[in-house]
Amino acid sequence: MSRRNSDKMAEVHEMPNVFENGQELQPDWCTTFFGNTNPIVLELGCGRGEYTVNLARRYPNSNFIGVDYKGPRVWKGAGIALKEGLKNVAFLRIRIENILEYLQPHSIAEIWIPFPDPYPKKSKQEKRLVSKRFMEIYQQLLVPNGIIHHKTDNEDLFNFALETMAEMKLNLLAHTFDLHTSPYLDELTGIHTKYEAIFMAEGLKIKYLKAKI
Ligand SMILES: C[S@@+](CC[C@H](N)C(=O)[O-])C[C@H]1O[C@@H](n2cnc3c(N)ncnc32)[C@H](O)[C@@H]1O
Repeated sequence: MSRRNSDKMAEVHEMPNVFENGQELQPDWCTTFFGNTNPIVLELGCGRGEYTVNLARRYPNSNFIGVDYKGPRVWKGAGIALKEGLKNVAFLRIRIENILEYLQPHSIAEIWIPFPDPYPKKSKQEKRLVSKRFMEIYQQLLVPNGIIHHKTDNEDLFNFALETMAEMKLNLLAHTFDLHTSPYLDELTGIHTKYEAIFMAEGLKIKYLKAKI
């Protein structure tokens, strides 16, 4: 029987690899938690944390943090990481708007943004995780030459991301409107998230871009 969201939330509060809104964190909590200063990779709007967990399995010498405000989703990835003993995984259950309160400036090597909510209404475009407002936060988080990866099924959102990056003069390293027939499909871009699986089953093409700060 699947657990109720309220049970998952209660478990999330006790999980040693989940750090939450309102919890007091030392500025160097990442070094303390991971026990090293290896590069840190973020997955933003991570949902169940498929990128965080899959990348952590493949790259034990890097650290991975999934960020999402929805506890029952974070519960899934955090639980898998605990079960598998993945010491290089943490989750932050916070709003990404506030992420600079939890992570040091220029401390992040790469950011993955898989299938963020598109917020199609123009009045809501500031909520898009690929809007200028969020990109300015990522510029503060990333190390020099830090990398942003973005995947979506949504063509309007993808064009919006491309326009935002051009406006901010970010260095676009790769982009495709059909990842699965492109040369950019590899063992990293090919990781499937829950939403990606849904969109692929509907026959939608997956868009991908990679940019350098
Ligand atoms: C469409 S889902 C995609 C989840 C996952 N990336 C995937 O591909 O399966 C978008 C996720 O972003 C999270 N999210 C949206 N805006 C957020 C914000 N401002 N701060 C934290 N999480 C956010 C939502 O809670 C949701 O889990």
